Amino acid sequence: MKIIMKDHIRTLGVEEITGWYSDTMFTQKQAEDALHFHKSLPMYQETRLISLTAAAHSYGVRKIFVKDESGRFGLKAFKGLGGTYAVFRLLCQKFKMNETTATFEDFQREEIRKQCEAIEFVTATDGNHGKGVAWAARIFGCKSHVFMPKGTVEARRKAIEDAGASTVVITDLNYDKTVAYAEKMAQEKGWILVQDTSWEGYEEVPRRIIEGYLTMAAEIENQMEEDRPTHIFLQAGVGAMAGGITAYYLNRYRNDPPCITIVEPETVACIYLSAEMADGEPHTVEGDPITIMAGLNCGTPCGIIWPVLRDGVSFYCACDDCITKEGMRAYANPLGGDPAVISGESGAVTYGLLLEILKDKELKELWKMDEKSVILLINTEGATDPEGYERIIKDHKR
Ligand SMILES: Cc1ncc(COP(=O)(O)O)c(C=O)c1O
Repeated sequence: MKIIMKDHIRTLGVEEITGWYSDTMFTQKQAEDALHFHKSLPMYQETRLISLTAAAHSYGVRKIFVKDESGRFGLKAFKGLGGTYAVFRLLCQKFKMNETTATFEDFQREEIRKQCEAIEFVTATDGNHGKGVAWAARIFGCKSHVFMPKGTVEARRKAIEDAGASTVVITDLNYDKTVAYAEKMAQEKGWILVQDTSWEGYEEVPRRIIEGYLTMAAEIENQMEEDRPTHIFLQAGVGAMAGGITAYYLNRYRNDPPCITIVEPETVACIYLSAEMADGEPHTVEGDPITIMAGLNCGTPCGIIWPVLRDGVSFYCACDDCITKEGMRAYANPLGGDPAVISGESGAVTYGLLLEILKDKELKELWKMDEKSVILLINTEGATDPEGYERIIKDHKR
């Protein structure tokens, strides 16, 4: 294990990864099942995979691909993929439909719509997941209740209301405690909890949520054509998305997996902390951490995906907020003829980190990046807090 401290970045490199794979979890088959469902939604559109050709050329790597989720379902973030898929799978179970062949259309029948009206979902969120669940509940004709941690900006609360939630409440609790509160409310009120993290006894729904995220991997697979990534950078809150995508690629390229880097805010780097503790267990960052990366402000790793993050990842990075600000500005002001990308605080940290690496000879060597490298990033959100976004883009300070 190698720890490197640079200005604004802490890197934990694992010299020898032990590896992870599964024939049944987070495979191409699951990605295709999720894509099959998402394609059946009338508002489905594949999100773009951008190639930052000028940037790749300028920094001496073969390609930099960005999967741009800022346009997903009009929700400005990838998270709706998980919420919709979990709600779909729960409803398939309830109505005894075949989960791999059923489509959204099957839920439009009058008698099903009527029964859906009585179903209520609940979740805790720092923004995007709740918006996804609220929207999923609405399109299936169900109700939803969303709880948010203290410090949530009003724009994010309002966006969830607009997406269709029946109630949206900002609590005076941190994220982890808000999750516990949503679980308690589910038990008290008979609502169905759709949470994007897992704990003992609560694993099925988060697993479906993660499978829903694999639609991105299935799309990328088609969009990349003959290329395959050598390096993937994934931002993490609880690590469900990062772990799901990691698992997919470890399964897909079992004998020659890409180099995966997990990226978190330094104030709340629970996966970094867990890797650093090196006792094999996930660890929690306590307290009320502050970061502008609201979607990544989660103190406890997702239990079901933690083994993937522990065994299949080469680097863990904890980044100061200034790294994501740099990423946001670089996406907005691209080099040469590269397309501009609107990327929010939780979306841009991987690009900010990548630029730090590419500009630093020592880091570039550590990551073994050269003219053969094909790098994949996911812009997981657009301007979900439009005022914050404008402020950061106009500002030139770190
Ligand atoms: C925009 C954005 N990116 C990344 C993440 C991280 O996802 P996860 O919590 O599964 O690690 C989130 C989580 O809410 C998010 O909203």
